Amino acid sequence: MHDTKSSQNPGLAKSNQNAGLRSAQKAKKDEFYTRLADIENELRHYRAHFKGKTVFCNCDDPRVSNFFYYFSYGFAHLGLNKLITTCYKNRARDLFSMNDGETAISLAYLGEKNGNRVPDPEQIGIRQLVGDGDFRSDEAIKLLQESDIVVTNPPFSLFREYIGQLIEYEKNFLIIGNINAVTYKEVFPLIRDNKVWLGPSIRSGDRAFGVPNDYPLEAAGCGIDEDGNKFIKVKGVRWFTNMDFPARHQELVLHRKYNPDDYPMYHNYDAINVDKTRDIPVDYDGAMGVPITFLDRYNPNQFEILGSSGTLARRMSELAPKGTYRGNAGRFYLDNGNGTYRRLYDRVVIRKRQPWRSRSSRLR
Ligand SMILES: C[S@@+](CC[C@H](N)C(=O)[O-])C[C@H]1O[C@@H](n2cnc3c(N)ncnc32)[C@H](O)[C@@H]1O
Repeated sequence: MHDTKSSQNPGLAKSNQNAGLRSAQKAKKDEFYTRLADIENELRHYRAHFKGKTVFCNCDDPRVSNFFYYFSYGFAHLGLNKLITTCYKNRARDLFSMNDGETAISLAYLGEKNGNRVPDPEQIGIRQLVGDGDFRSDEAIKLLQESDIVVTNPPFSLFREYIGQLIEYEKNFLIIGNINAVTYKEVFPLIRDNKVWLGPSIRSGDRAFGVPNDYPLEAAGCGIDEDGNKFIKVKGVRWFTNMDFPARHQELVLHRKYNPDDYPMYHNYDAINVDKTRDIPVDYDGAMGVPITFLDRYNPNQFEILGSSGTLARRMSELAPKGTYRGNAGRFYLDNGNGTYRRLYDRVVIRKRQPWRSRSSRLR
């Protein structure tokens, strides 16, 4: 990391070093390796989608990627046509972890040829990439165009761009992200318009991901597993996809009845507030604001999504005196009954597709 300019100027050297460390730290946040069990648990819901298809894992170093492992060993079982992987070579590799090859590579596997049921090195076509393997590079986009389905855990810091590219090239995909991404202005419209939804296998809690050996053990949620590998536990992980699966069409069974005390109206939008998905009232046909985790149970035949607090909330400055609320835009507020207003977490606004009919009217 020494250059002549910075060695002549210790101040510059320090700031360069800090900048390098910052970019390495930022890059390191993206350096999580998905566990095989999590891949298997999700992929079993999509088996029918993969027959005869070309799968692309475009953020995957085959030396460490369980996505590569899953698809290369499951190639015949899934009936794949081709598996392509590209591996990203990070520019700050001396400060970084595994991406230490001289150049980025791409790899194409066409299935088992010698009957030993193992993807041997000579069967895996390894090609040096000209660039660094960035999913946005021309050569990676060319491979994307060749593929049918993209499956990976992409860098979280680039999630918006990553999913935007998949939509632009009209690919099927199954990718890992954080549930908070549903509130991004680039992502929410996709969810609302039924172009993207959440996968079924992760609905709460945290998930362990492998991390590079030089990952600081003191980082929150970091540990070492029984095989001596470092991992970190990450909260809010979800699968994002545009491939259908049967569980997505299961009805959410509702029990509670509406009453205005338990389900107050927002001060800055005409909808009732529902704090928990399981408490959605069975007999309310109007707009309801529900937590974003509702999307884990979202059945598009049962509910329609009207918008979110981010897109629908009116500015509190138009509706209440200054000093009676915190923040202003993009969230719903409830009246505390004492002249002040409580700001809520992000909400998704939904409505039932079928109006409620009481049991007696159904029997008539
Ligand atoms: C969260 S990790 C997941 C790695 C692997 N997909 C897995 O699940 O085990 C994201 C990976 O994307 C790589 N990456 C970062 N920026 C990238 C870019 N612009 N293009 C392609 N890959 C990138 C990182 O090096 C990192 O290995």
